[in-house]
Amino acid sequence: MMIKQRRAWELPASAATPEAVFAQRRSLIQALAAGPILLAAGRLAPAKAEVAADPSSSLYPVKRNERYQLDARIPTPSKEELVTTYNNFYEFGSHKQISAAAQTLKTRPWTVTIDGLVEQERTIAIDDLLRQMPLEERLYRHRCVETWSMAVPWSGFPLKALVDFAKPQSSAKYLRMETFQDPDMASGQRQFWYPWPYIEGLTLAEATNELAFIATGLYGKPIPNQNGAPLRLATPWKYGFKSIKSIVRFSFTEERPVSFWETIQASEYGFWANVNPEVPHPRWSQAMETPLGSNQKVPTLLYNGYAEQVAGLYKGLENQPLYM
Ligand code: MTE
Repeated sequence: MMIKQRRAWELPASAATPEAVFAQRRSLIQALAAGPILLAAGRLAPAKAEVAADPSSSLYPVKRNERYQLDARIPTPSKEELVTTYNNFYEFGSHKQISAAAQTLKTRPWTVTIDGLVEQERTIAIDDLLRQMPLEERLYRHRCVETWSMAVPWSGFPLKALVDFAKPQSSAKYLRMETFQDPDMASGQRQFWYPWPYIEGLTLAEATNELAFIATGLYGKPIPNQNGAPLRLATPWKYGFKSIKSIVRFSFTEERPVSFWETIQASEYGFWANVNPEVPHPRWSQAMETPLGSNQKVPTLLYNGYAEQVAGLYKGLENQPLYM
C-alpha cells in the first residue's frame, strides 16, 4: 500500500476547506454512498484535452522590471515544477493536484468582457488585448491563506493599464472579476455545492495600485492552465485566494462585489484579505508560513512585505476587517 506523506507546506484538506463546505461535501458523500449520482459523475469524465499551440508564445520572455525584488525569506523564485504542480484551482478539483485535470481548459478562443460603469462596454479577444498591454516580468511573493508561500516570476501587465483601457465612469468604485463557467470543461464546476463562477473584487484604488498585476505568463512562458491561463490576477499583499484565475469578465461597479469565498464563509474569507501575521485565521495562526519546497517556516510580514506600496490604501479604514 502506498502511503502519501504530506510535505511541510501542505495543510490537510479538512483544515484548508472552510468548515461549511467540508461538512456539506461529507454529508452529501455519505448520503449518496455509491448511489446514482456517483454513477452519473462517472459518466461525466473529463473530455480529452484539445492541445493547440499558444499564439502568445512568441511574446515571452519579457523584460524584468527590477523595481520588484524578493526578500531574504524566499530569496530566489520557487521551483517551477512545484509552482506548476501544487495549485489551488477549485474548478478542477478541491485539492492541490489539479495540474493534469486543468489541461482540459481551452484557452483559445478566449474573450474578455469589460462592462458595467465604463464609457463603452466591450468584448476583446485575449491576443488583441495582449498586443495593447505593456508586458513586463515581475518577481512577486505569494502568500496563501493556508500558510504556504512561494516566489514567482510573473509576466503580464499592470491592472491599471486595463483600467485605463476600460475608461471607467466617475461613479465606479469597485472592480469585479469573474472566472469562466463551463462544467463540461472544468470537472470541479460539477461540484454544485460551490457558488460558481469564482468571483473576486478590488476597490478601484487597489486595482490601480502599482502592485496589482494581471499575469499572463510564468517563468518566461505563457502561463500554464493550472496557474490561471490565459490571464489571472496577482495582488501579492493579499492572501492568494484574491488572485482570481482564468478571468473572462471585468465589471466596474458602485457596489462592493461579494466574492466566491465570502459567499461560502464570510467569517473566514472577507473582502479585504490583506496579509497580517498578527490576525489569525479563525482556525489557525497566520504568524508563519512555509515556502514551497522548504521544511522551514519563515515569519509572515504585514501586507506580505509590501507595506511601502500599499499601506496608504487603508488609511481611514482601520475600523474595517482589513485582514480577513
Ligand atoms: N481562482 C479560481 N478561479 N479558482 C480557484 O480555486 N484559487 C485561489 C487563487 N485563484 C482559485 C483562484 C487560491 S486559494 C490561491 S492560493 C491561488 O489561486 C493559487 O494560485 P496558484 O495555483 O497559481 O499557486
